[in-house]
Amino acid sequence: MSIICKYLAEEIHFAPTRIVPCGANVWDRVRDDIDTYFLKPDIDQKGIDFDLYFNKRKEYIEQFKNGKTPEFCVNCEKYTPVNYNDDECNELKIKKINIYNRTICSCRCVYCCLAAFGKMDAFKKMNSDKNYDINPILKQIDDLHLIEEGSEIAILGGECSEYPDELENVVNWGKKYNPKFIILSNGIIYNDTIASLLSSGNIELKISLDCGSKAKHEQIKRVKAFDRVIQNLENYSKKAENNPNAQIQLRYLILPKINDNIQDVKNFLNIARKYKINTVVLSIEREWMQDNNQKRVPSHLRKFIKFCAFNKEYKDIHIGFDKSHIWDWWLEKVLNEKTIFDKLKMFWNKNNF
Ligand SMILES: C[S@@+](CC[C@H](N)C(=O)[O-])C[C@H]1O[C@@H](n2cnc3c(N)ncnc32)[C@H](O)[C@@H]1O
Ligand code: SF4
Ligand code: SF4
Repeated sequence: MSIICKYLAEEIHFAPTRIVPCGANVWDRVRDDIDTYFLKPDIDQKGIDFDLYFNKRKEYIEQFKNGKTPEFCVNCEKYTPVNYNDDECNELKIKKINIYNRTICSCRCVYCCLAAFGKMDAFKKMNSDKNYDINPILKQIDDLHLIEEGSEIAILGGECSEYPDELENVVNWGKKYNPKFIILSNGIIYNDTIASLLSSGNIELKISLDCGSKAKHEQIKRVKAFDRVIQNLENYSKKAENNPNAQIQLRYLILPKINDNIQDVKNFLNIARKYKINTVVLSIEREWMQDNNQKRVPSHLRKFIKFCAFNKEYKDIHIGFDKSHIWDWWLEKVLNEKTIFDKLKMFWNKNNF
């Protein structure tokens, strides 16, 4: 038995400027100063020597097996230890491929983490940045027999419907592994590759709608596209109708003071119901969470979360919470925090008034 971080053993991330086994070294603690990155592609280079990545991964797995923490992983908060038996350890194959090397997107979400949390000048950079070509790397990965049958292939960013040729290439490449595709989109541009997976593939399509009305959509996305998204949702939903392996999920990123009121989420849930989407997932804006998680939860946000968590009106829809942003302990705190009204009620009951 050996204890190895699950991410190192099972994942690969094609991030905008690097290829790594996990998100931990992409967003949370980017350390350009030390030479511990697995692979930092030269953007202008035609081919990339994927063997370098492969060898580094082997070296770090070996270090974990010998009870050492690889330099890459020192002080990592996302360390996720898993026990692998000796047979598994000899051939640890990748089970989840996360692709977000492209950052292009013409939406302007107020919250976008790719554009310095919605800063207008950062959108220009996000759309003009050159990205490396993933296709030669995928070919090298095939030759190394690195991917496990039935893996997950997640196509995450910027906006994949704005690079349709690459999306189609990646999907065609991946099909030989019989994967589950996880695709994130804002839903503004209808995409044939997504539509075809919905009708006959294995796919979870996650659409970031974040609201339930045109006015709110324009306030959040800062483009006029609500009607198109709804039309595309209707068409995607029809495609998925007879495919048990296709699931469409609507996402709602809670933006405190912007969309954390019950009427907004009801409008959103009505859209889900209308287009037969039975799973929605709530997340919360990352910067707000980082700055506010120790503070008392504003009462309108508490009411909003309680409404979603106890979900009495929309029993036909499963409302989930994205645990990577809405942490369990914080959710508990929101659901258990007492309001002044609660306290008065307790006082009243205790004194038998
Ligand atoms: C960067 S987007 C790219 C995919 C696609 N364009 C979309 O909007 O769904 C990927 C995911 O990150 C989430 N995201 C973006 N900025 C965020 C932030 N500041 N806090 C939390 N989640 C964020 C989005 O809601 C979306 O679900
Ligand atoms: S310990 Fe952290 S840095 Fe290392 S592979 Fe796991 S998640 Fe990534
Ligand atoms: S649609 Fe996605 S990538 Fe585009 S701005 Fe919004 S969050 Fe960012």
